[in-house]
Amino acid sequence: MIPITVTKETYAEPVAACSAVGIFEGEDAKNLPEDIPSGVIDELKGLMQKKQFTGKLKELRSFTLDSFHHALVVVGLGKRQEYTLERMRKAVAKAAIFARSVKAPSLAFNFHLKDVDPFSLTTRAQEATVAALLALYRFDKYKTEGKERARMKKLVLFAQARDRPAIAEGARTAQPIAEAVMNARDMGNTPANILGPADFEEYARKRAKSNRLRFSVLSTRDLKRKGMDLLVAVGKASKEGPRMIKIEYIPSRKTRGMKKIALVGKGVTFDSGGLNIKPTQWMDYMKSDMCGGADVVEVVVAAKRLGLPHHITGIIPLAENVIGGDAMRPGDVVKGYGGKTVEIMNTDAEGRLILADAVAWAEDAKPDLIIDIATLTGSSIGHLGYEGSPVLGTAEKALEVLEQAGLDTHERIWKMPIWKEFEELIKSDIADLRNLSKPTGREAGVITGGLFMKQFIKKTPWIHIDIGNMSWFPEARDYIPKQASGWGVRLLILFLERFK
Ligand code: BES
Ligand code: ZN
Ligand code: ZN
Repeated sequence: MIPITVTKETYAEPVAACSAVGIFEGEDAKNLPEDIPSGVIDELKGLMQKKQFTGKLKELRSFTLDSFHHALVVVGLGKRQEYTLERMRKAVAKAAIFARSVKAPSLAFNFHLKDVDPFSLTTRAQEATVAALLALYRFDKYKTEGKERARMKKLVLFAQARDRPAIAEGARTAQPIAEAVMNARDMGNTPANILGPADFEEYARKRAKSNRLRFSVLSTRDLKRKGMDLLVAVGKASKEGPRMIKIEYIPSRKTRGMKKIALVGKGVTFDSGGLNIKPTQWMDYMKSDMCGGADVVEVVVAAKRLGLPHHITGIIPLAENVIGGDAMRPGDVVKGYGGKTVEIMNTDAEGRLILADAVAWAEDAKPDLIIDIATLTGSSIGHLGYEGSPVLGTAEKALEVLEQAGLDTHERIWKMPIWKEFEELIKSDIADLRNLSKPTGREAGVITGGLFMKQFIKKTPWIHIDIGNMSWFPEARDYIPKQASGWGVRLLILFLERFK
């Protein structure tokens, strides 16, 4: 993790190799902080007069300060009245990526804007810091050549005396949040030969231990004994047997309105599709089919480090969906935890199978709310592209809080209907349920996927988040590099902070 310092030093001093400052579109350069060297202001004014710099969002101009041998970067923030937390994140990410491109070992920025949005200075400091850290993320662990040599070594936040407590607090909370997202990205990017069910278990056990969280595992034998045959069926063709892990955070002191929340994350460490094998172009990145599970581990750890006010139990069913003589077949009938029978119409619709056992087991502990997060369907891409996650659920109040958390983190959600008629689509001719919608399997993909899990929950309010689209970015975007995005971590943390 890049260390962060909060200092009263200013742009007038050579504290960082690169210092960034934001400016609104069409506004005078004289609105910039007064400690910006006057030479820069004059030059910028000239550029603005000639319309060579306008301040539109993410426009960037760098000035070299000979006296300090460092660069001052002016980044456009777009129009003042359109400014949001997300625009700030984008601008910060732009500056961070620029700083890295010129191999600057340190980056500084400030918070001189006043009355720009409804968010507190602490929130802005937190989110700017998170955006910078996330923008600088890179997954080059397995490169032996061409690794980035000059790494960013320091982030500096300028703060005048009276702003210092708020900014320092934002910088403090930013670290567990950014670390959680980056760890989730690392897990999603890690190949399946290195992160199988046993490795995932080990990783989560270590994270639990070093953060003093409760941790336990149901082995394949335990699963069989308990009748969790859906998870067993999905994972049994793999050399590394299926298992279910539990990582638990209990707040040190009881707070009023404290809730017990189960977070359930899909942990398929590789999804070949099984006997209904996936087409070539979809397969390699199915190493990321455990992103929901990674989110859950990291959110529980972050909950502990941030001292969030709820009792949170993370449950992750782990399995590798591959092919072998022992693999489940299309047409097999398997009984889930609690006794419902499922006709497996397609071995590639495996996420809902393992999650069915997991949510049913989660309910045994009588939580107030169950949230599952899963790379459940490719059809989520068809629905919302790469702009937000489809969700469904029965927990109306929690959904409202989640929706606002989605807008504020820009990890947006969109609620899908769960009309009664959809239930018909997942009824089997010979068993209670089928894991593919009727008649072709393409009908209401996201909804029937989620609705399948609902059949295994008796009465607990529940939300399903499908991150099949958002967990993996084909192209980089601002503070999200391409490939595993860690999507959902920031959303869930903010939700848990606000939910009452
Ligand atoms: N892990 C996949 C979903 C997925 C696919 C996520 C592509 C991201 C990108 C899931 O297990 C799956 O294969 N779902 C099938 C369901 C279908 C058979 C009903 C799908 O979406 O095609
Ligand atoms: Zn699948
Ligand atoms: Zn899958």
